[in-house]
Amino acid sequence: MGLKTDIKDLIQQMTLEEKIGQLMQLVPNLYSSKGEITGPLNELGLTEEHLWQVGSLLGVANAEQAIEIQKRYLENSRLSIPLMFMSDVIHGYRTIFPIPIAIGASWDVEAAEEMARISGIETTIGGTHVTFSPMVDLVRDPRWGRVLETTGEDAYLNSLFTKAFVKGYQGNLTGEYDIIACVKHFAGYGAAEAGREYNTVDMSDRTLREYYLPAYKAAVDAGCRMLMTSFNTVHGVPSTGNEYLTKHILREEWGFDGVVISDWGAVGELIAHGVAEDDKEAAQKAIKATVDIEMMSTKYVNNLKQLVEEGTVDEKEIDQSVLRILQLKEDLGLFDNPFRGASIEKEKQVIGCEVHREAARGIARKTMVLLKNEAVLPLRETQKVALIGPHGDTQKLLGAWSCKGKTAEAISLYTALKERIGHDNIRVAKGCELEDTVINQEEIERAIADVDVVILALGEDSNMSGEAASRSSIKLPGVQEELATCVKSLGKPVVTVLFNGRPLDITKLVPQVDAVLEAWYPGSEAGRAVIDVLYGDYNPSAKLTMSFPYAVGQIPVYYNYYNTGRPRPNDEVRGEFYSQFIDIPNKPLYPFGYGLSYTTFEYSDMKLDKTVMTQGETIQVSIRVKNTGSVEGIETVQMYIRDIAGSTVRPIKELKGYERVALQVGEEREIQFTITEGMLKYHTLSGRFEAEKGRFNVLVGTNSEELLQKEFILQ
Ligand code: NOJ
Repeated sequence: MGLKTDIKDLIQQMTLEEKIGQLMQLVPNLYSSKGEITGPLNELGLTEEHLWQVGSLLGVANAEQAIEIQKRYLENSRLSIPLMFMSDVIHGYRTIFPIPIAIGASWDVEAAEEMARISGIETTIGGTHVTFSPMVDLVRDPRWGRVLETTGEDAYLNSLFTKAFVKGYQGNLTGEYDIIACVKHFAGYGAAEAGREYNTVDMSDRTLREYYLPAYKAAVDAGCRMLMTSFNTVHGVPSTGNEYLTKHILREEWGFDGVVISDWGAVGELIAHGVAEDDKEAAQKAIKATVDIEMMSTKYVNNLKQLVEEGTVDEKEIDQSVLRILQLKEDLGLFDNPFRGASIEKEKQVIGCEVHREAARGIARKTMVLLKNEAVLPLRETQKVALIGPHGDTQKLLGAWSCKGKTAEAISLYTALKERIGHDNIRVAKGCELEDTVINQEEIERAIADVDVVILALGEDSNMSGEAASRSSIKLPGVQEELATCVKSLGKPVVTVLFNGRPLDITKLVPQVDAVLEAWYPGSEAGRAVIDVLYGDYNPSAKLTMSFPYAVGQIPVYYNYYNTGRPRPNDEVRGEFYSQFIDIPNKPLYPFGYGLSYTTFEYSDMKLDKTVMTQGETIQVSIRVKNTGSVEGIETVQMYIRDIAGSTVRPIKELKGYERVALQVGEEREIQFTITEGMLKYHTLSGRFEAEKGRFNVLVGTNSEELLQKEFILQ
C-alpha cells in the first residue's frame, strides 16, 4: 500500500455537488455509450456531470467492464476519487453454493465461512468490491419469498452464521480477496405481515430486540463495514427514514461507523409509505437517519443541495456520510489501486473452477435434510431407478439469487445419476411440469414397469422464492402431490427429493412416499451432491432451522413460542378452552432442529455438575451420545434453556448451544456444554438486558422436540 489518503483533506477540496455525488449509486449500463447523456440518464433527471461524480455502481458485469468504467471515470473525475462496485453475491458468484436457508441447515458455520471466502475470491476477480450479503433477517413465515436468503428462525443460530459470513467475506480486509460485507435488511424485514413482500412490520420493541436485532448486531460486532436498510416500516416509520433504528440503535447504541445504504429506491418510497410529501422531504428524512448512500433513486442528488442551502440539512451531516464512504474506499485500497483484484486473465482460470465447484459440492451435501426414511435409503448401485418428476432432468437448481451462476453449468439430478449407475439403469419420465394441471400417467407407468425404486424429484420453480415471491399456499405447485399418489400406487418404493426455497406444506405428501430428502436449491453441483447423499457417500447430517408447518393456517409456527395461559397439554388432547386449533395440531410437521441420519443416536445420562448457580458462576452440562446404528454419522447435539418465570413471559425454550459430533458405529461420547449467566439474559421488564433469578430448565437432544431435561436455579 502506498501513502494513506488524507480523506478529511480530500473532503475539504470537494464541492457540495461532488460530495452529494458520492452518496449516489447507479447502474453500469448508464456508462455504456461512452458517457453520452443516455435516455435512462435523462429519465433519472441526471446530466453527464453526475456520471463523473457518482460514488458507486451496482452490478458491474465482469472484470473487463469494471476496469473499463473505472478507467473512464478516473479520467473524468476532477479529484480522481475511484468508484466502488457493489453486487448481490448471495450464495456464490459464478460457482453457486446452496441457498442460505440450506447453509443454515448444515449448522456448520465453517461451511458458511468457506462459501463466503470463495465468493470473495470470485467477486474480487470479477471486479466487484462489496457484496450485499449476508441477509440476516429472522423469519417465521415461510410464505415470504425471501426465507431462502436467511438462515432461519433462531436469533442465536442466525447470529453465529452472520459472524461466519462476515468473516469469510471480509477477512481482516487486508487480504487480496477480502471484500466488504453489507449486512441487510435493517430491520425486521423478515416479519412482514402475512409474509407478503414489502408489507408492514409492527412489533414490540422487546420482540424487536430479543429476536430480530441480534443477528444485525452480531454483524456489527464482527466488524461488518456496511449495512442496508429495509423496505418495511418499524414502529410506524419506514426503515430508510427511521432515526430510531439507524441513528439511535445502530450508530449510537452499537457504535457502528460504517456505511449505511438504502435498499433499491427506498428513499423515494418514503412518499408512497406516507411519511414524506415529496422527493425533498424523502431526501431530508433519509439523510437525517444517516442513510449514506441512496441506491438507485435520485432524491439525494436532486434535493440535498437545496436542503443544505436552506439550512434544513447541515453540510456537516453530508460530510460525515462522505467521510464514511471514502473511508471504505481507502480501506479497500482503491485510492492506491482503483482496479484492485479485477483480472480478465484470472477470471478465465479461477471463476467457477473445479476447486470451487468441489467445495460447493462438499457444502451442498451438508445442507440436505432427511425428513423421512422408511428403510429405503441409502440406495444401492445395483438397483434400477425410475427418475420421475419435473425436477428430475433440469439444471434449474441454482436458486433465485445466483449472481453470475449459469444454469447451463449446473449438474442435474439425471446427469449425476447417469454418472453413478449408467444410462441403461435409468428410466426417465417427467410426469408433469412444475405447475401443470394434468399428469401423464402412461409415461410414468412405462418408466416404472421394470425398476426397483423411484426417485421422485419435486419442488418449486426457483422464481417462486426470492424477492417479491410471496406465496399464499406453500404446497407443492400444480399437480405434484397427485403425481406422488399416482407413482406410489404403482407399488415401487418412492424416494422424494425436494428442491425448493422455503419450508413447504408437505403434510399430504409425506405419508404417500417412503423417503423425503429436502435438497433446497443446492447450486452448481446440485445433482452430484444429491446423489452423494442418496447413495450414502455422505450420511445426511443437516437439521431444519425453520419449522415445516403442518398447515399454512398455523403460520407463524416456530419453536421458541410463548406458552400462553392455556397451553394445550399435547396435540392428542383437544380440550375445550386450550390455545389450539380445532382441526389441526399445534405442532409443526417437522420442528426446528429436526433431521434424520442413516444411523441412529441414543442420548443418555444427562448430568449437571451443580443445580444452583450464583452470579458469575457457570454450570457444566454433560450428556452421553451413542451411535447405535450401522454407519458412521454426524449428530448435532442441541442445548436449549427455558426460563420458567420472568418479569415478562419467556419462550418455551431457546437454543443456547450445540455441537456437531462425528461418531463411528457403536461409538459413545460425552458431550459437554457450559451454561453461563450471559445465556440467561434477556430484555427484562425494566428494559435492561439481564438475567433474573429463579428456576430454569436445560434441555439437550436431537431436535427442539426430543429432549432430555434437568432443572437448575440462578440465585
Ligand atoms: C433489492 C433487494 O431487497 C436487496 O436485497 C438487494 O440487495 C438490492 N435490491 C440490490 O439488488
